Amino acid sequence: MKREPIILNHDTDEGLRQKKIIERLRAINDTFEQKHGRKKRMHIATFGCQMNFHDSEKLKGVLEQIGYEECDSEAQADFVVYNTCAVRENAETRVFGRIGHLKSLKEKNPNMVIALCGCMMQQDTVIDKLKKSYPHVNIVFGTHNIYKLAELLETHMETGESVYDIWDSYQDIVEDLPTVRKYTYKSSVNIIFGCNNFCSYCIVPYVRGRERSREPEDIIEEVRALVADGVVEITFLGQNVNSYGKNLQHPMTFAQLLEEVEKIDGLERIRFMTSHPKDLSDELIHVMAKSTKVCKSLHLPFQSGSTRLLEKMNRGYTKDSYLSLVNKIKKAMPDIALTTDIIVGFPGETEEDFMDTMDVVKEVEYDSAFTFIYSKRTGTPAAQYEDQIEEPVVKERFNRLLDEVNSLANKKSREHIGKEYLALFEEENTSRKGYMSGRLDNGHLVHVEGDSSLVGSIRRVKIIDAMTFYLVGEIIHE
Ligand code: 5AD
Ligand code: SF4
Repeated sequence: MKREPIILNHDTDEGLRQKKIIERLRAINDTFEQKHGRKKRMHIATFGCQMNFHDSEKLKGVLEQIGYEECDSEAQADFVVYNTCAVRENAETRVFGRIGHLKSLKEKNPNMVIALCGCMMQQDTVIDKLKKSYPHVNIVFGTHNIYKLAELLETHMETGESVYDIWDSYQDIVEDLPTVRKYTYKSSVNIIFGCNNFCSYCIVPYVRGRERSREPEDIIEEVRALVADGVVEITFLGQNVNSYGKNLQHPMTFAQLLEEVEKIDGLERIRFMTSHPKDLSDELIHVMAKSTKVCKSLHLPFQSGSTRLLEKMNRGYTKDSYLSLVNKIKKAMPDIALTTDIIVGFPGETEEDFMDTMDVVKEVEYDSAFTFIYSKRTGTPAAQYEDQIEEPVVKERFNRLLDEVNSLANKKSREHIGKEYLALFEEENTSRKGYMSGRLDNGHLVHVEGDSSLVGSIRRVKIIDAMTFYLVGEIIHE
């Protein structure tokens, strides 16, 4: 049964309750620090998508308020958190391997607290396996209640028992918990949680629940606060941002949200991901095209070029309708950078289907593409399909696709040579000494000679060289 979201205001009962628990735990950790001459240490490992990375910033914010400091590895940590991903099986296998390894670390440090959260935890099979074979895990929670971290930790500390708290569906969107941003000048902002699309291969709707949008006032207030704190670029996050606002009490489109956010003084760049092709409106194209702040880059997953497979995937568009959408976008914004996700080896994929995928890649000429081998996810409709493809066939197709994607990315990259762009500088380049890395408006990575004084600033650069995955530029002194 669908439940309406309860949107809590800032001084809400739940937010306040968590803050009180944070204060109580802080007192305990302060005592630890006085006694041992050091703070307790946390190590958070994040798997999967940007949504998870953003959730981990919230977990880090809560743990910092409790008095933990970050450390580089599990071996030094008093508190380990794995924020997990369920989209593909190999990510799950890796996590189980790492949880197994934690057992020996915990034998050396019995006070170590181990917490697991994220999409994997929303699956009954995973929970059964953890309860049966991984008793050294102390706290387990899911995607709907990450704001309860402090409470779960307190319960574990008081009882000494393992605490499992997994919800089938969301209850509240709790606003205003502390967040620790990785960068001072850019930040992600959630606008919509969950997904209603049920693509037949995808586990996300089962582990992240139904779509619910945040209130525009809450989003705008968060962006304003970030800008006041030095942020110049925001990335709106959602499994399908194009569905934003449909279920709000006062419905609003994603394009309208962008127009409102664009008005915020001091904000320079607006990015967003991910867009579902079936929901990308003409209104959005129009708003993007005329905007000076919305970046000219679009992540537009097509998954497969075969209309037959797209139907089996439940994607809601055809090869032709996808290509006409791309043409419309390119016509409105000739300098747009397009990126995509592609799945190879979906059940029943023939050589002809695969050639349709290659066709789309060649025709669109993506700036970059994330290519995935289909992974069978128990509980999804596609896992029941009988015609699963043999591994050698999938691998051979995957390699062919990767060659094509990379050679087109290289070609696209080289088209930038000699042109000028604005770049937002992010960090020192670790492999080229004396170089700084930045991002162009279109999302391309650029390396430029300079020092850390550039971090967070937007400068005009001229591109002088291009590789497949990055550009080299020089600053134009105006
Ligand atoms: N197997 C392989 N790739 C998948 N994705 C989602 N589910 C699966 C799966 N079962 C890919 C899609 C999606 C991206 C985030 O992950 O391409 O766009
Ligand atoms: Fe998964 Fe499809 Fe939803 Fe994307 S739109 S999260 S691929 S179900």
